[in-house]
Amino acid sequence: MMNQENTVHPEQQESFLKNLVTFAKDHHAQHWEGKFGDFLEKILPGDPYGVARTSHQYIWDMIRWSRTEDADGNPQCKLFQDELFGVDESISRVMDYFKAAAAGSEVGRRLLLLLGPPSGGKSTLVILLKRGLEEYSYTDAGAMYGIAGCPVHESPLHLVPHTLRPGFRDTYGVEISGELCPFCRSRLENEYEGDFMRMPVERIFISEAGRSGIGTYAPHDPTTADLADLVGSVDLSKVAEYGDEGDPRAWSWSGAVYAASRGMLEMIEILKVKREFLYLLLTLTQEKNVKVSRFPLIYLDETILAHTNLAEFRKFLQESENEALLDRMVIIQVPYTLNYKDEARIYRKLISSAAPAFREVHLDPHVLHAAAVFATLTRLQDGEEKEADLTRRLRIHANEEVEGFNRGDGERMKQRAPDEGLAGVSPRFVINALSNAIIQSDSKSLTTMDVLLALKDAIENDARIDPKKKRKWVDYLVLARKNFYNRWVKEDVYKALFVSFEQEAQDLLDKYLDEVEASLDSRPVRDPITNEERKPDERFLRTVEETIHITDSGKQSFRQEVVRKAMGAFKRGEKFTLDSHALLHEAVQQYLFEQRRDVLRLVSSTTRPDEEVRQKISVVEQRLVQEYGYDAHSAREALNYVTTLLAQE
Ligand SMILES: Nc1ncnc2c1ncn2[C@@H]1O[C@H](COP(=O)(O)OP(=O)(O)OP(=O)(O)O)[C@@H](O)[C@H]1O
Ligand SMILES: [Mg+2]
Repeated sequence: MMNQENTVHPEQQESFLKNLVTFAKDHHAQHWEGKFGDFLEKILPGDPYGVARTSHQYIWDMIRWSRTEDADGNPQCKLFQDELFGVDESISRVMDYFKAAAAGSEVGRRLLLLLGPPSGGKSTLVILLKRGLEEYSYTDAGAMYGIAGCPVHESPLHLVPHTLRPGFRDTYGVEISGELCPFCRSRLENEYEGDFMRMPVERIFISEAGRSGIGTYAPHDPTTADLADLVGSVDLSKVAEYGDEGDPRAWSWSGAVYAASRGMLEMIEILKVKREFLYLLLTLTQEKNVKVSRFPLIYLDETILAHTNLAEFRKFLQESENEALLDRMVIIQVPYTLNYKDEARIYRKLISSAAPAFREVHLDPHVLHAAAVFATLTRLQDGEEKEADLTRRLRIHANEEVEGFNRGDGERMKQRAPDEGLAGVSPRFVINALSNAIIQSDSKSLTTMDVLLALKDAIENDARIDPKKKRKWVDYLVLARKNFYNRWVKEDVYKALFVSFEQEAQDLLDKYLDEVEASLDSRPVRDPITNEERKPDERFLRTVEETIHITDSGKQSFRQEVVRKAMGAFKRGEKFTLDSHALLHEAVQQYLFEQRRDVLRLVSSTTRPDEEVRQKISVVEQRLVQEYGYDAHSAREALNYVTTLLAQE
């Protein structure tokens, strides 16, 4: 019998097949091949810049091609949009690198090194660029041409003899750089008697699997790693055929640097490679050539994108002879995000691509955010120990409105300390803990508390973490629970408990504002029903304010600030709502809540609930399920949890 997972839905199949057909059509139409003579006549005049551009220019064009705007009109790169979260700054540095390199800046002669903590998205960033290149090469704008049969898919313009290049520049307005590779040079002599106009040219498509325009190198065991993996070696089976080891046709052109020609070479864990590899790569970026045994220098135009983790980098820094090498790299840090909302999006993405057994488990609506709060706390710089400060900073990093901080302060607070985000818990750590929790409980539903416990377990059982850090991290779990989760879950329960909660809260806010304005202007308030005038209700104002610990001496400035914000909203034509003022939001909620405390007590007292109470409980649970993302199990747990919290207050 087929299970749910394997059932094929006809509509789904139809739309998938349609996609396949479109894909095939898009990716087919524009093949081209011909002699170099035809190429000069038919292709080149259409877009001389496009034909002559360098790998950096090509990648920069690809990036620009994939740019869109988000809802607010900010430029967005659709390559990264749904894949990478919270690393915008690193992404924009990478963009800046390509922009500068494409414009001919010196940075194009340096190797680009992404540096960051493990599982921080470095490989993902490179993969997305590679996929972007593949896709772009199928578009009209991304058309790229190469000499057919060339092992480095080199530009056909290399066929233009040096003496004619100034004339070429005057005619087409573009510069030719680069030399014919030894392989094509030998073919030109042996097969075409030097008549380069007859050399075959074709449109090439970037493909990692096809080893065209993308090369990847990962060091395995450094002791056995051979330069040949990068630059090839003599192909003994062909030596007999060509009679000479020095014949380029007897060379095996399988190295990653050849595959990457015209596009991108990805160097994984670059600092693990031997120093001779590094020198070769640095020469390649700087001089655009490699030297292999019997051949003259081979010209290669490609962008090297390397990545490494921090531990490796620190080791590398310690050797003084590496200084000169470092000088020839552009280093871009890819730290973990400090925005817990972005962090939670990473988890969501990782879960949605996980096995069905994992995906089908219900998580209460705060699981991922609470775990993310913990993870981001571990990434903040050491030293700041006060809970309130940590909480505030975390909320600022998540772009939440925090009382006492305006946007400018927030931006300043958001600047990272140099080491922030370079250490701490990785997304993978959290996902592993989460999957352990899923495996260990047979339940199909996990609550935030379950997951915080699973994280605690993971911390305590991790031998790599020292005891002091373990204690600190466990404290962070407590903080995530106390200062974040408790707030969220209480709000859900209040809302589910009091249907008209939001309306009442807004009414209360309006009333508060009226009274405050009257009080500040020392004028009376007119009662809407009796039409009588009375003094502002100071007692009401104070009750609201006391829920958020505004003192008697601080009340005046608090009130003035509220009115200022309300005026601001009014001037912008906006309504002053609870979302306009974080602290007042809390106050109003607390105030309403205090009024209803007894109702909640009654509803959730579990000792011998009578039928009526049971009925009430079930309505609240249903509302949590229908409107706030809970399932039956987690709704019950949330309600119990909030009751316990209440008992402690
Ligand atoms: N900022 C992020 N946004 C989205 N996904 C992320 C982010 N950071 C990590 N991930 C996800 O976490 C996983 C690990 O990331 P990736 O392999 O790119 O990290 P890395 O920096 O290359 O790590 P390593 O140094 O261990 O090679 C990937 O599945 C990736 O999609
Ligand atoms: Mg990686």
